[in-house]
Order: sequence, then structure tokens, then C-alpha cells
Amino acid sequence: MRLTVFALAATSLPLSLGLSQNADQKLLGAEQSSFKEHGEKEARRQPNIIFILTDDQDFHLESLKYTPLIEKHITNQGTFFKRHYCTTAICCPSRVSLWTGKQAHNTNVTDVNPPHGGYPKFVKQGLNEKYLPVWLQEAGYNTYYTGKLFNAHTVLNYHSPYAAGWNGSDFLLDPYTYNYLNSSYQRNRDPPVSYQGQHTVDVLANKAYGFLDEALQHQDRPFFLGIAPVAPHSNVEAFALDGDVGDIEKLVHFTPPIPAKRHAHLFPDVVVPRTPHFNPDSPSGANWVRKLHQQSSDNVAFNDHFYRQRLRALQSVDELVDGLFARLEGKNLLDNTYVFYTTDNGYHIGQHRLQPGKECGFEEDIHIPLIVRGPGVEKGKVADIVTTHVDLAPTILELAGAPIRADFDGEAIPLTGKGIEKAEVKGERHEHVTVEFWGFAATEGKLWRKDEGRLILNNTYKALRIVGDGYNFYYSVWCNNEHELYDLKADPYQLVNLLHPDEAAKAPSTILGVPFAKVISRLDSLLFVLKSCKGQTCVRPWQALHPAGNVLNLHDALTSRFDYFYETQQKKVSFNKCELGYIVESEGPQFETDGLVYRHGLRWDEWV
Ligand SMILES: *[C@@H]1O[C@H](CO)[C@@H](O)[C@H](O)[C@H]1NC(C)=O
Ligand SMILES: *[C@@H]1O[C@H](CO)[C@@H](O)[C@H](O)[C@H]1NC(C)=O
Ligand SMILES: *[C@@H]1O[C@H](CO)[C@@H](O)[C@H](O)[C@H]1NC(C)=O
Ligand SMILES: *[C@@H]1O[C@H](CO)[C@@H](O)[C@H](O)[C@H]1NC(C)=O
Repeated sequence: MRLTVFALAATSLPLSLGLSQNADQKLLGAEQSSFKEHGEKEARRQPNIIFILTDDQDFHLESLKYTPLIEKHITNQGTFFKRHYCTTAICCPSRVSLWTGKQAHNTNVTDVNPPHGGYPKFVKQGLNEKYLPVWLQEAGYNTYYTGKLFNAHTVLNYHSPYAAGWNGSDFLLDPYTYNYLNSSYQRNRDPPVSYQGQHTVDVLANKAYGFLDEALQHQDRPFFLGIAPVAPHSNVEAFALDGDVGDIEKLVHFTPPIPAKRHAHLFPDVVVPRTPHFNPDSPSGANWVRKLHQQSSDNVAFNDHFYRQRLRALQSVDELVDGLFARLEGKNLLDNTYVFYTTDNGYHIGQHRLQPGKECGFEEDIHIPLIVRGPGVEKGKVADIVTTHVDLAPTILELAGAPIRADFDGEAIPLTGKGIEKAEVKGERHEHVTVEFWGFAATEGKLWRKDEGRLILNNTYKALRIVGDGYNFYYSVWCNNEHELYDLKADPYQLVNLLHPDEAAKAPSTILGVPFAKVISRLDSLLFVLKSCKGQTCVRPWQALHPAGNVLNLHDALTSRFDYFYETQQKKVSFNKCELGYIVESEGPQFETDGLVYRHGLRWDEWV
């Protein structure tokens, strides 16, 4: 028996080694090619990088239509990545994923506040030494940042320890981060300063321009400049730094964002786009969303005001961008500077009857703007490859000519027209987004009903967004094991949850030419891999299921030869319990211990 096992282990060893070797080679290849390119163009300097990160900016509510200067300087002069997604639709987890290149299940920063999230959790996880600015300094950059870094980064804890990796920093700090007219910023090693009476985005613009001047005094090194305005996030007045989540109504006060006075009169007639899923007559979605009541006309009118305040608050960001480009042009920097524009997560107002907020898996919350301009980036192009926030740290390191880390959960986004074309070839680039969430959703507007509160608990789910040749799905499993599936090709507004018992009659008998259940089984197995994936497995999840490399996408996986493997053998995604954080024991079977790999339908240690 011993011998048999040994023999099996020996024969399977090369197989598994082969896989990791391939992955390593690919990784090494990427490193070498960017180093080589770098070496060849030694005369060319490493580029400067400016990263503008707004807070809660939507794509689907059309906010970008109201910022003509961003359109002029960035969109028209660069490439718009029309399928860009965040992986966790809330500020702190999303930002930590962005700056580390890792999914939230690998950072375990899953919330905005301790114990499961916030700046203290970021530090505790050892990430203050393992994130982008640190790597950029190692790659020879001077790094600057102003605005909001993370949540729970406060006037009390900003120095214990200081955020690492910045040559110059001027951070917005809690509890004044979202206080538009009484913000606190904290510069380098100085104590926090209160800006009572000044508009936070105008304060920020001057700090950003100041860091640009500072960077230009040290032209022996390229610079990275992060600019993170709080607009168009809600205005929040917080009265204490800690406290029980249950006391939220006493601790924080949400109001619509506050624009600068000069913008307060704009867009008097604009309302939230009245799409089919705006305050619909029938409930939609799953779980608590499906229990929401239709909003009253007063509620809708208030939310339209909330929406206008967001657009007005964004005007200051539009002006900041204009001021920034005036300086970049004036100093002749545009030939060697990349500018990224994105946000931490999206936003909904009224879709599916939701009050203003984020934290859901709907397109409004996860599908967000990403626009890039810079040398070699095509002007006015719209790219439709799937890209996510965990792809951004690798993208920036590649631009910097620095090594790509093997533990990244994403892959560099091609920025040139040629690179994008190559990525569009089947199997060249991932077509999925791993979406995950733990904890609560918050209502940021007014509370209109006693039975719909400020915080909605058990908002814990795993989801998969997948867009490929002929298909476009969102599939999710909630912590109470409710399931959700939208076929966005047929139902772009996600009004029909094909896995809800009430919608069963609407479910088609076949999708993509095969029975409905077949498709579900593949999506579930893919999510099973992704919900706990690490590194390259997050980028090439089909490889984990089919190490032979013959399955590159959903189409390939639908082959009937794999029916038994997916429909019968594979464990299903499920939860044992709803938790506020990433507690593995509550998250059902895990791929690493319970999943099967397709090798004659059996895992190698089951051949015995
Ligand atoms: C994530 O952090 C929480 C505490 O916030 C801890 O209880 C949990 O075990 C951690 N999960 C993993 C997978 O490390
Ligand atoms: C920025 O910080 C890095 C790392 O500490 C250092 O090597 C570099 O000299 C600094 N740049 C300036 C202009 O001080
Ligand atoms: C503004 O913030 C400061 C602390 O930074 C606080 O002392 C002051 O009371 C606040 N002012 C108002 C009007 O809330
Ligand atoms: C939340 O989930 C927990 C554990 O799964 C359950 O006991 C509780 O009843 C749920 N609460 C609500 C409000 O659904």
C-alpha cells in the first residue's frame, strides 16, 4: 500500500511541478520582458505615475457625463476600460486590495473598522510593509499621497505606526474624513490640522499641486503621486472614534455630499436615471434586497437631491484635474507621465429599491470607471477586456519596470492598443471578477421606514462576474445559502434572479445551447475555486480544475465530457453561518481540501 501511494505520488509529482513551472515561467517571462524593455530603452526614464482615486463614484448613474474636464484631459486623451470592477464594494477592503494586488480573502482586511478591517487591521496583517508605495520606492520612485488612504486611520492612530512607503503624505483622517467642511489632514510627521470652513476637495487640490512641485525638485527619480479626494462620498459627521456597531445612529450622521458654494446651484433639474430597475414595481434581487419596499415619492425626491449633490461635489474634482493638467503641460511632463483615474467602489441610488449606498454585488456597486492616459496609450479608445482592482498594483509595477510579485491575485492590464488586442485573444486574459463581501450594508440616505434600518447585517456573500464570448453572468451565493444568477445579456438591469423560487418560471430551459443546470454547475465550481484562490489560481482558475490546460474559459468547461465532474463530483459553494469577517470554518467546503481536479475525474490521491 505504501509503495503504491509512493508510486502515485512520484508519477503525479511531475504533473504538479509542471503546472507550477509553467506559472513561474510565465511570471518570469513577464518580469524579464519588462526588464528587457527597460534595459533596451535605458535612455528612457521610468515614467511618472499619477493615480486619482475618488470615493464611491458610480459608473452606472452616469456621473462621468457631468465632468467635462476629466473627459477632456483623460478620457479623450486615453483609454477607457469599460469592464473594470472592484472586488469588494466598500472603501477600505477595496483600497487595500487595490494597493496590495490581493483579494480581500488574502489580505483579510474585510471591513472598514476593526476588528476585521480599517487601518489597524491593515497594519496588523503586516501589509504596511507589503504594498505598492513601498515597492515603488524600492524601484527607485519618490512617492507622494494626499487624501483618504484607508478607513479607521484616525487623528489618534496615524502615528502608530505611520503609513509606510511615502516620501510625502497628507492624509485625511477619521473621524473628519467625510466632513466636507471640517476635514482634518495630517502631513508627513506633523500633527493633524483642521480645515474648518474650507471645502475638503479644494484643500486637497492645493496639497496635490504642492506635492507635484516637490516631486519636480527631485528629478533624478521618477514620482508616483496618489490623489484621493473624498467626493462624491456622503457627508458624514462622526461623533466618536469607536463604539458598538449597534449604536451607529448615535455615532455617525449621514447627509448628502456638500459641494463647494460655487457649484451648489448646478444641475437643478437632473434626477437619477429612470432605468427599468429604478424603484421597480416588483421586488428584485435576493435576501434583504428582495424585502425592500417600493420608495415613496418623497423618498425618491430626496434621493434625486442626494444624486445632484454628488454631481455637484464632483465638480471640485473636475477642477482639480484641470489644474493638475495645466501644471503637467506647463512643466512639459505629459510625454513621460501616466495618469490613472478610478474610484474605490461604485454606488446605487434607488436601483432595486435600494437607498443610497454600496456594498452590494449589483453592477452599480462593482462596475466602476477606469481611465488611463499616458505614453503609448491609445487616445479615445474603449477597451472591453475584463479588468479589476487587483490588476492595478501589477500594472503599475510593470510600468515602473519592477518585478511582478508571485503572490499577486491579479495580472497587469495591457495599456497599449496592441497589448489590449493581444489580451482579447481567447485564453490570453481572465474573463472573470472575484467578488466578495462580509458584514453589513449601510443605508446612507434618510431612514424612511421603521422596518428598514441604517445597518443591514448578514450582507455576506461570494460572487462571480464573468463576461466572455457570448455570455455575461453574475452568480452569487449568500451566507444564508440563497443563490443569485443574472443573465446580463438578456437582463442587463439584473431584474430577474433566475435562481429565486419566484422567478423559476422565467428561467430558460437552456442557456448557451446547453441545459440551464449545466451552466450553473460550472459557475459554481469556478466560484468554489475563486472564493479562496491565491496568486496565479485567482488569475487562471480553470487551470486549478483542469491542470492539463485544455479548459481556458466557460465555453470549454461546458463540454459534456465534464458533466459528471461538475454536476456530481464537485462540492458546491455553501456557508455554515453568516459572519462579520472571514472565518474560514463558517465558509463551507474549501477547494484546497475538498475540491476535485479533473484528471480522469479523480484527484491523484484517489487513484489508489
Ligand atoms: C481573518 O481575521 C479574523 C479577525 O479579524 C480572524 O478571526 C480570522 O481567523 C482571519 N481569517 C483568516 C483566514 O486568517
Ligand atoms: C524617498 O524615499 C526613498 C526611500 O526611503 C529614498 O531612497 C529617497 O531618497 C527619498 N527621496 C527623497 C527626495 O528624499
Ligand atoms: C471641526 O473639527 C475640529 C477638530 O479637528 C473640532 O475641534 C471642531 O469642533 C469641529 N468644528 C465643528 C463646527 O464641528
Ligand atoms: C444572520 O445570520 C445569523 C447566523 O447565520 C443568524 O443566526 C441570524 O438570524 C441572521 N440575522 C438576520 C437578521 O438575518
